[in-house]
Amino acid sequence: MFAVLLVVGVIVGVAYVYHEIVVKGKSCTSKVKLHGKTVIVTGSNTGIGKTTAIDLAKRGARVILACRSKQRGEAALEEVKRESGSSQVVFMQMDLGSLKSVRSFAETFLKTEPRLDILINNAGIYMQGRTADGLGMMFGVNHIGHFLLTNLLLERLKDCGPSRVVNVASTAHNFGKIDFDSLNSHKALGVGTSFYETLKVYSDSKLCNVLFTHELAKRLQGTMVTCYSLHPGAINSELARNASSWFQLVLKLITVFFFKNTVQGAQTTLHCALQEAIEPLSGRYFSNCTVREAYAKAKDDATAKKLWELSERLCGLA
Ligand SMILES: NC(=O)c1ccc[n+]([C@@H]2O[C@H](COP(=O)([O-])OP(=O)(O)OC[C@H]3O[C@@H](n4cnc5c(N)ncnc54)[C@H](OP(=O)(O)O)[C@@H]3O)[C@@H](O)[C@H]2O)c1
Ligand SMILES: *[C@@H]1O[C@H](CO)[C@@H](O)[C@H](O)[C@H]1NC(C)=O
Ligand SMILES: *[C@@H]1O[C@H](CO)[C@@H](O)[C@H](O)[C@H]1NC(C)=O
Repeated sequence: MFAVLLVVGVIVGVAYVYHEIVVKGKSCTSKVKLHGKTVIVTGSNTGIGKTTAIDLAKRGARVILACRSKQRGEAALEEVKRESGSSQVVFMQMDLGSLKSVRSFAETFLKTEPRLDILINNAGIYMQGRTADGLGMMFGVNHIGHFLLTNLLLERLKDCGPSRVVNVASTAHNFGKIDFDSLNSHKALGVGTSFYETLKVYSDSKLCNVLFTHELAKRLQGTMVTCYSLHPGAINSELARNASSWFQLVLKLITVFFFKNTVQGAQTTLHCALQEAIEPLSGRYFSNCTVREAYAKAKDDATAKKLWELSERLCGLA
């Protein structure tokens, strides 16, 4: 009897420690306040975007929730206001899968808001398909939409420096590859809807986030704007909502012990957005609130430049 209790005790203890230390990970320790500062968080109606927005609003920032659905965005607006106790929260509609929508969001924002101090490119989708502009869905939403948005807001960020751009990527970028032939032929990173293909295309789009950050940092040298990419951890969010049902079932089963909740999942984003004195690390990749050495393919100068130029063409900036 005693032995059984001991074994159960040890298992529970180890699981608890594992969860507390490994799953939870580090927290953002910055105490920075943001009164008078303006922040945009894309995809902030749910998941880690919403918890990120709540934290920033609590610090006094004026927070713009840039979300595609009016209904979900307005519901989140009420929740973010309530949870943060701040009235400085605004919903502005933007669908990253439509270049027209991104342009109209930027226009409205620049007209109505005098400042931009932190841009958090957080929205992401895990689903095959096409955007309104005929781009691959994950490439279009996860990368191109944010690429255009950032470029349209860059002058304002420069005017308000020191300012930051934070790109929420994923450790999945390690499995990614930028297939320029496939982008040139059908404006998507691979096709097909199999489990493997979907995961691959998602990983490719996340590699775009890391390479975009690498190139952006170079182009921002000499300005007061810095940028960072990151892996937020494995998080219990809505990201897999359009994945196959067996995959969602497997996820549900392992979620409890191995995944972070959305408050824990926001910590590395907050670290990149707020932590003092990380400016010399502009362009780098973070995970668990710590800078990491990215693999060579995620900081390859030639690929990053080529991706930038292709992206400019695809969203009509060049
Ligand atoms: N969850 C993880 O384990 C994990 C791991 C690594 C990286 N990430 C990254 O973390 C970020 C946040 O994901 P999450 O886990 O919080 O997922 P989530 O709960 O699914 O939230 C994603 C957000 O992105 C928005 N979005 C999707 N398509 C959009 C579009 N076309 N235009 C504007 N917004 C759009 C969603 O809006 P709707 O609600 O309207 O769809 C939602 O607000 C993503 O970039 C994801 O790739 C997540
Ligand atoms: C995060 O960092 C903490 C503190 O350095 C460490 O104990 C933990 O194992 C790390 N977690 C992950 C998931 O890397
Ligand atoms: C994605 O999942 C959501 C939530 O389950 C659902 O409402 C939506 O219709 C799905 N979209 C597609 C294209 O499957």
